[in-house]
Amino acid sequence: MASPWKSAWTLRPGVTYLNHGSFGPSPHAVREAQRRWSDELESDPMDFFVHRLERCLAETRDRLAKFVGCAAADLLLLDNATVAMNLVARAVELRAGDEVLLTDHEYGAVERIWRTTCERVGARVVIQPLPLPLEDPDEVVRALFAGVTDRTRLVVFSHISSPTAVILPARQICAEARRRELPVCIDGPHAVAMLPLELRELDCDFYCASCHKWLSAPFGSGFCYVHPRRRATIQPLAISWGETPGGTPSWQGEFDWMGTRDPSANLSIPAAIDFLERDVGLEAFRSSTHALAQYARGQLLQLGRQPPLTADDLGWYGSMVSVPIAPGDAHALQERLWHEHRIEALVKSWQGRRLVRVSCHLYNDERDVERLLDALRRIEREPR
Ligand SMILES: Cc1ncc(COP(=O)(O)O)c(C=O)c1O
Repeated sequence: MASPWKSAWTLRPGVTYLNHGSFGPSPHAVREAQRRWSDELESDPMDFFVHRLERCLAETRDRLAKFVGCAAADLLLLDNATVAMNLVARAVELRAGDEVLLTDHEYGAVERIWRTTCERVGARVVIQPLPLPLEDPDEVVRALFAGVTDRTRLVVFSHISSPTAVILPARQICAEARRRELPVCIDGPHAVAMLPLELRELDCDFYCASCHKWLSAPFGSGFCYVHPRRRATIQPLAISWGETPGGTPSWQGEFDWMGTRDPSANLSIPAAIDFLERDVGLEAFRSSTHALAQYARGQLLQLGRQPPLTADDLGWYGSMVSVPIAPGDAHALQERLWHEHRIEALVKSWQGRRLVRVSCHLYNDERDVERLLDALRRIEREPR
């Protein structure tokens, strides 16, 4: 059945867009909200920045905090998860010989942030492999913490991983880290909207996220959750006035004003929450996109005839799924999908496997998955 939500987006006709997980376009309602914010800014920048910005950002934080289950005071509004992770990398004090523990499912840029940070001071990144297929959360926790030594200073893991699209057992990992008194930073851009979040209950130290993925807020919107016990450690990447113009100095003010810029992307986060919560319904969003991901998973497993990465369970994947296919050149396949079939899907090499990652948002339907399968079959028949 055709997706009833397709017309809520402006996707280019003729393109099969199955990569919301990399770059998630916004629906009309959100783009309209952003245009209104930009128009207000452009119509009187003085009034906007000096008289209104501080309150508007506070209202955005209030709304986002309810959505992700924390206090508004715990949130910094930032451009994206990458900026958030860089703030954390500066906040954690590392010395020569220290270790930062990551899983082998982490996003390449996140691994790079930590390698660069560690290299500067003679510390090192430890990459801990997780068992495959992922079936038992306790086994994942045991495997990750087997990489802890008396030099481990931080544990970093994805709530939902990029290459493998798996949901890692965040609650259990955080509980084990607390038991060992180890700080935890979660890389969470895919989890915002795809999963119900209770960040305060998770009790992590930092949670880095972008809102321009599954929440479908405008590009350039994101946040860092900072547990109150870590608040004093985190500093802005750019020092400015420490407050918005006409605002009051505060911890959050340091991050709200890192020089003059258009804040319309972050101010549109409430419109994106409204769209998913009120217009669509979060449960409807999660169940319909998971059902499509499950369909894609089943079909791709049949096609690829390789063992799956996880059990077929909502606990291990949500609206996005990665499926191993026959080994080969991942980049070349992704390019052929685009150039020959106008299909946008991620194809990645990961731990000796070639993975096809399918992102299912509201505008996708089974026909998109069928097109992908047809294209993969054709490419298999016509090797280059
Ligand atoms: C797991 C993960 N972490 C971090 C990022 C970085 O997100 P952004 O480019 O929005 O900063 C991505 C982007 O795809 C990701 O998949």
